[in-house]
Amino acid sequence: MVDTKKIQKVVVLGTGGTIAGTAASASDHTGYTAGQLGVQHLLDAVPGLNNTLQGAVLACEQVAQLDSKDMDHATWQLLARRCAHWLAQADVGALVITHGTDTIEETAWFLQSVLQPSKPVVMVCAMRPASSNEADGPQNLRDALVVSAQPLAAGVCVVCAGVIHSARHVQKVHPYRLDAFSSGDAGPLGRVQADQVQWLSAPQAAPVSTGMLAEQITRTAVNQWPVVEVVLSHAGASRRVVDALVQAGVAGLVVAASGNGTVHHEVQAALLDAQQHGVQVRRSTRCQEGSIVGNSSPWPDMDGLSPLKARISLMLALLAESGA
Ligand code: SIN
Repeated sequence: MVDTKKIQKVVVLGTGGTIAGTAASASDHTGYTAGQLGVQHLLDAVPGLNNTLQGAVLACEQVAQLDSKDMDHATWQLLARRCAHWLAQADVGALVITHGTDTIEETAWFLQSVLQPSKPVVMVCAMRPASSNEADGPQNLRDALVVSAQPLAAGVCVVCAGVIHSARHVQKVHPYRLDAFSSGDAGPLGRVQADQVQWLSAPQAAPVSTGMLAEQITRTAVNQWPVVEVVLSHAGASRRVVDALVQAGVAGLVVAASGNGTVHHEVQAALLDAQQHGVQVRRSTRCQEGSIVGNSSPWPDMDGLSPLKARISLMLALLAESGA
């Protein structure tokens, strides 16, 4: 039977990160500079690349070159544009994006929400710089290329240390170890080992209803995107941060609530006042796993999204509403 999803072309987009990082010494895994090597250089280092590609054509493009701690909306907009461009080409079967680990989960959710791609968009990263004598980037990139060629693959996912995570559930949970990501209670989408993919659940191709179109996000100047910030409810919290943000003119606030969605009474009072000033308030638990259950609150929660992803969803929803 002919596999109609057989990939003709895979486009690899580089954005920087540790996967493209270098240090002065090959044994230095922490004192390096992220985002130094171009994406073609990263591909050249993939072991057995031709076997992995199995005839598919590879193209690459350097979209950005940064440490992902510095990821910004302008780079997201550019990346969304370039993804939309390539995904619209009939001969492109999949995209692979190299990215830093620190904010990959946010970029993954942004792209999933904005593009809602039916083709696979596989994001990949590394915990050790490319200059390391034990670099994990080349194998991770190979795994990502394998996943991108899977007939079942669809939508945005993150591949790291042989594990495939959905854009929705992936979170960085460890600052150093190679397997630094978790999908929490949802568990990973699958695993990739020795070029074989084992799916554990279906990849997410279905739209995620932000009502946002790629066209709108790419044409609206980033300084017109609604400002949405995350505030943390914690022991000893005060209303100062919320008040300052309202004063600064934020359009939305996501409170990273404690436990099952509880908010310090001082922060709660400030958020209620913020709402009176027209600020959209949402809540999300700061717990790393699980989501808020059966808890009433003046603020809707964001369907189990982490505070960082809830910020993105609220920003996109407000932009869609604004019709900008
Ligand atoms: C970054 O996020 O760009 C640096 C850290 C990493 O990739 O692990």
